[in-house]
Amino acid sequence: AETPFADIRIDMVRPGVLRLTIDRPKARNALRTQTLREIAEALDAAARDADVRCVVLTGGPKVFAAGADIGELAAHDATSILDDARPGHWKAIRSFPKPIVAAINGYCLGGGNELAMHADILIAGTTAVFGQPEVNLGIIPGAGGTQRLTHAVGKSNAMLMALTGAFIDAQTALAQGLVSEVTQPELTEDRAITIAETIAAKPPLAVRMAKEAVLKAHEVGLEQGLHAERRAFCQLFATEDKREGVSAFLEKRRPAFTGR
Ligand code: HXC
Repeated sequence: AETPFADIRIDMVRPGVLRLTIDRPKARNALRTQTLREIAEALDAAARDADVRCVVLTGGPKVFAAGADIGELAAHDATSILDDARPGHWKAIRSFPKPIVAAINGYCLGGGNELAMHADILIAGTTAVFGQPEVNLGIIPGAGGTQRLTHAVGKSNAMLMALTGAFIDAQTALAQGLVSEVTQPELTEDRAITIAETIAAKPPLAVRMAKEAVLKAHEVGLEQGLHAERRAFCQLFATEDKREGVSAFLEKRRPAFTGR
């Protein structure tokens, strides 16, 4: 299918699975404003497309993304950065209600790592390298890195990355809980697609509410999180897919979910 974008490519790689590939190889997939805008636009369209059940986010086989575009950062001062368009694009990305599985090979740095952490499940190739090197530029992560990285790997590991700018490899990222699995680099995307296909076959309302509820764990206190979970749990009892899923189990047959 034709892609209307310059910095990304999108295709339906499997039924229900949209693949979004960052494609600025000459700049190591650095996320200029246009790149982020295109990702946000693609996800916005995917949110409204019932045929999209899950997204695979990747930078291809060589590099995920080497961060924000440093050339763009150079042009900003403390006043102009206040009116930057990018926070709006990040907001659209984090508001995307369907699951995102990231397939990460090569450099995943700065804003690139922050983008990866917007995914719900992260799969890394053995060549993946993660870092928050912003400190070397006299700045700090600006798209949630200090928050999401700390939730993912804990305080001391997050501090080590944010304060020293040091990179970690895929095995370390796995041990610290930043990613769920490490694969051979040529299999990273396949593995992410397989996971996405599995998700795409599940009842979409349950999937959506599960994502929302898990994210709540890092957004609100336990009492509020439990309340949100319980409300979503009860709401799902009003769905056809709940009736179908439970009946199919009891009747020992495969469920046929409709998304209602
Ligand atoms: C713009 C970048 C870039 C970036 C690489 N390039 N990273 N351009 N922004 N973040 C460009 C280089 O300028 C170069 O262009 C080409 O890509 C290849 O890069 P090399 O350095 O020659 O490649 P290599 O030796 O393989 O090193 C790869 C690298 C290194 C380790 C990823 O490029 C690097 O350290 N990049 C910067 C990483 C970084 O600091 N990221 C954090 C950015 S700040 P030419 O034209 O010379 O071929 C950030 C803040 C987020 O992300 C805030 C929230 C939005």
